[in-house]
Amino acid sequence: MFVRCPRSKLSVWAALCVIVLCWLYIYPVYRLPSDKEIVNDVLRQGQVWKKNQTRIRLFRHLLKVCCNPRKMFAVTKENSPPGKVIWYDGELYHSRTVKNDTYALFVQEMPLQAPLKRCAVVGNGGVLKRSGCGRDIDGADFVLRCNLPPLSKEYTEDVGTRTHLVTANPSIIEKRFHNLLWSRKAFVDSMKAYGPSYVYMPAFTMKPGTAPSLRAYHALADAGSNQTVLFANPDFLRSVGQFWKGRGIHAKRLSTGLFMASLALGLCEDVELYGFWPFSVDLEERPISHHYYDNVMPYSGFHAMPEEFLQLWHLHKTGTLRMHIGQCPDANAAA
Ligand SMILES: *[C@@H]1O[C@H](CO)[C@@H](O)[C@H](O)[C@H]1NC(C)=O
Ligand SMILES: *[C@@H]1O[C@H](CO)[C@@H](O)[C@H](O)[C@H]1NC(C)=O
Ligand SMILES: *[C@@H]1O[C@H](CO)[C@@H](O)[C@H](O)[C@H]1NC(C)=O
Repeated sequence: MFVRCPRSKLSVWAALCVIVLCWLYIYPVYRLPSDKEIVNDVLRQGQVWKKNQTRIRLFRHLLKVCCNPRKMFAVTKENSPPGKVIWYDGELYHSRTVKNDTYALFVQEMPLQAPLKRCAVVGNGGVLKRSGCGRDIDGADFVLRCNLPPLSKEYTEDVGTRTHLVTANPSIIEKRFHNLLWSRKAFVDSMKAYGPSYVYMPAFTMKPGTAPSLRAYHALADAGSNQTVLFANPDFLRSVGQFWKGRGIHAKRLSTGLFMASLALGLCEDVELYGFWPFSVDLEERPISHHYYDNVMPYSGFHAMPEEFLQLWHLHKTGTLRMHIGQCPDANAAA
């Protein structure tokens, strides 16, 4: 009767072990280089960049195998017929069955079938300010922008004017446009900045995001807008998340910028990134704002920006994509 219940003791230890292992899985013990070390590495690399076609093809192949962006990045009538169960990628357990009314809002088939040549993915980092990258960005064949960024005159020189695809998170619709429950005019008017582009919305990621996304669709359709709303396919977002998790990104959720960079890497011949710089100083160690248009910090702990940066920087160093940090080459010549 000394050891009264060894079995329950054992299970307590087993439970503890499981908890510790889970903890290590979610928060692995490893050290990320400091911001300073990353900046130094970027400076050491300098402007040297050499395209590696083998790497580009290889990476496109990896993305095709894991995530099939060409077929899967948006919800379409083809991949989501009535009766299909859509599982939200940002919720633990929530789904929605495609009914006739939502089905009617899906595009018939996947757009962007033709191979895209040079794609510019514009992150919104403060490093874009005074970069003079506008002309470079506008010169791309396909320009992707994130989270409805302002494109007013004062920014043109640094970020350009053209847009082919812009992402719109439901949280922005909520914050800036009262969830479109009141007037929709402000929303429709502000969208004119993006021309006849695709508006990419993660409508089936979080439960509260669906209704505002559908309202955004209707607002644009009712106004006779040229824009085509594409609902992000949660299966695609989930598989891209797992792809990067397998490569060592441990955030709860990838940033929109990394999703867009992944999409571009899967669809385009050449990928160039602008404004992907999640640090508070530029390469000359001058303090910079968080975005090129404001200095509002995001919630911490949700995204792992330096980790994401290191992955993209690795792709830059291996010639898989090209990252522009600081001034664009032509900027000085023009000034
Ligand atoms: C391009 O990448 C491949 C695969 O990693 C490598 O074998 C090759 O040496 C690289 N080519 C150049 C020119 O760096
Ligand atoms: C949905 O549309 C299909 C084909 O147009 C039709 O056969 C079906 O009855 C509709 N279902 C509902 C619930 O309206
Ligand atoms: C739609 O796009 C065309 C060509 O880009 C433009 O001429 C037209 O004014 C646009 N219409 C609306 C309603 O924005």
